[in-house]
Amino acid sequence: MWNPEHYQKAMLFAGIAHADQHFPGTEAAYVVHLAQVAMEIQYAWTLAPGDWNVDLALQCALLHDSLEDTPTPYATLEATFGKEVAQGVLALSKNADLPKAEQMSDSLKRIKSQAPEIAMVKLADRITNLQSPPPHWDSAKIAKYQAEARLIHDELSFANAFLAQRLMAKIEAYADFLSR
Ligand code: NI
Repeated sequence: MWNPEHYQKAMLFAGIAHADQHFPGTEAAYVVHLAQVAMEIQYAWTLAPGDWNVDLALQCALLHDSLEDTPTPYATLEATFGKEVAQGVLALSKNADLPKAEQMSDSLKRIKSQAPEIAMVKLADRITNLQSPPPHWDSAKIAKYQAEARLIHDELSFANAFLAQRLMAKIEAYADFLSR
């Protein structure tokens, strides 16, 4: 079971860090995305509990964009949530100094060097992001996003069979958006 105090602390921290951001394409607060990713972790824990650290996965789910998308310094994250959480969030953050085409494979490599719970957060993030694509995306962009999701699945499915299977189902269902 997760520690509710850790969840509350991470949710509030993320809510403050992302306070001026919105869920893409909407007026909803950005924390909606974070809560959706956290829910996927809780869903996996409920239906496929196992020998994994749900407390670590949930904190990283709530904090997974706090380094990439906000000015939060790494040192603050580590001082507030400890090294394991902070290193996980760092692995989940793209390195903006690299060419864009290399950022995903670099992040996947770093995710694989962490505990499997970090890969679980990446699976949960992409499951969540395979809802309806934004209206302005054309089918080439949608196909590219689907292909990238397959890469994430293939690289990280080792971490959790339940989430890997759920991601594959979402990837297959995403094909419906290609024909619009
Ligand atoms: Ni995300």
